[in-house]
Amino acid sequence: MKFETKAIHVGQEPDPSTGAIIVPIYQTSTYVQKSPGVHKGYEYSRTDNPTRKALQDCLASLEERKYGLAFGSGMAAIATVLTLLKSGDQIIASDDLYGGTYRVFERVYRDYGLDFVYVDASDSRNIEKAITRKTKMIWVETPTNPLLKIVDLRGVAKIARKHKAILVVDNTFSTPYFQKPLLLGADIVVHSTTKYLGGHSDVVGGAAITSNKRIYERLKFSQNAVGGVPGPLDCFLVLRGLKTLAVRMEQHEKNAHRIVRFLANHPKVKKVLYPGLPSHPQYRLAKRQMTGFGAVISFLLKSDLAGAKRFLRKLKLFGLAESLGGVESLAEHPAIMTHASLPIEVRKKLGITDNFIRLSVGIENVEDLIEDLKAGFSTV
Ligand SMILES: Cc1ncc(COP(=O)(O)O)c(C=O)c1O
Repeated sequence: MKFETKAIHVGQEPDPSTGAIIVPIYQTSTYVQKSPGVHKGYEYSRTDNPTRKALQDCLASLEERKYGLAFGSGMAAIATVLTLLKSGDQIIASDDLYGGTYRVFERVYRDYGLDFVYVDASDSRNIEKAITRKTKMIWVETPTNPLLKIVDLRGVAKIARKHKAILVVDNTFSTPYFQKPLLLGADIVVHSTTKYLGGHSDVVGGAAITSNKRIYERLKFSQNAVGGVPGPLDCFLVLRGLKTLAVRMEQHEKNAHRIVRFLANHPKVKKVLYPGLPSHPQYRLAKRQMTGFGAVISFLLKSDLAGAKRFLRKLKLFGLAESLGGVESLAEHPAIMTHASLPIEVRKKLGITDNFIRLSVGIENVEDLIEDLKAGFSTV
């Protein structure tokens, strides 16, 4: 089966008891057993739930790998993946991670004895240079958030293999529709399914996918032991989102390309960051490892904080909100919003300045979106 078909069918056979074509929301906490220990594969919904199983199977198939695990949020998935490590282990991570990932690394897991080192992972040599005997995991996002730098996944996977480190890739921005890190050599993919996979800004969720049985079994154990699981209704919503992922991603990207062209030619824009722009320093790498460039665009206004605030306040169709990947367009100010948990000196070093704006381009009519942006620019 091809991607679009798998998204609609894998894990979603008609319900055996009624023939319902859609996987039911098994809103149950427990399952009656015939005799102690004799059951139909389900004992308690933290451990397993049929709606969650359908989602997990579908997610695994879209990443073309064996095992999927769903979580109550992207952060729950990320926090659970870190339970693969022990006190004293070191993780090398890309330096412009989602702020919440940085926060759980620094303000939760560092206290448990994990050590995190941040490098500019867009040059794989920086990763190799940072490796020590304690390095057990490499953690990257690509494209990065919000700078949209590209990490060479094949190159980093080679380094990870050489040093026996687990390579984790946060694939939230690209989705398996545009990028399949596990096929390029990564060990684990994590997602915030809150974003494109759910796609409709109505659910918070996360996932981890792997083909490594040992990693899967440990993560499955932690999923149940730690308990950061999604409820069945949330699983249903993500599963429904997956059915239209392919057509949504096509339209998201089409709109994004048009908006990038508009921004790149606008006199009030200093710089546009988008991996699909031939002027992006890693355009060729992006083309090699992705089948599309996604729909998150960052740009620098020729203005200051006050100008950025006026611009954002004026937008009507672009909701001023954190998050991304929904059918509706969003705009945000990373320094004040999504990346506020990064220390100011880190933000400065990365270039997340006061005139830095991130757009998540939705699937509305693109001419309407451009009119909205024009209204924003009129205030700058
Ligand atoms: C790249 C990335 N990873 C992880 C997360 C965390 O996911 P969640 O908000 O679903 O916990 C986010 C949230 O914005 C994200 O953008």
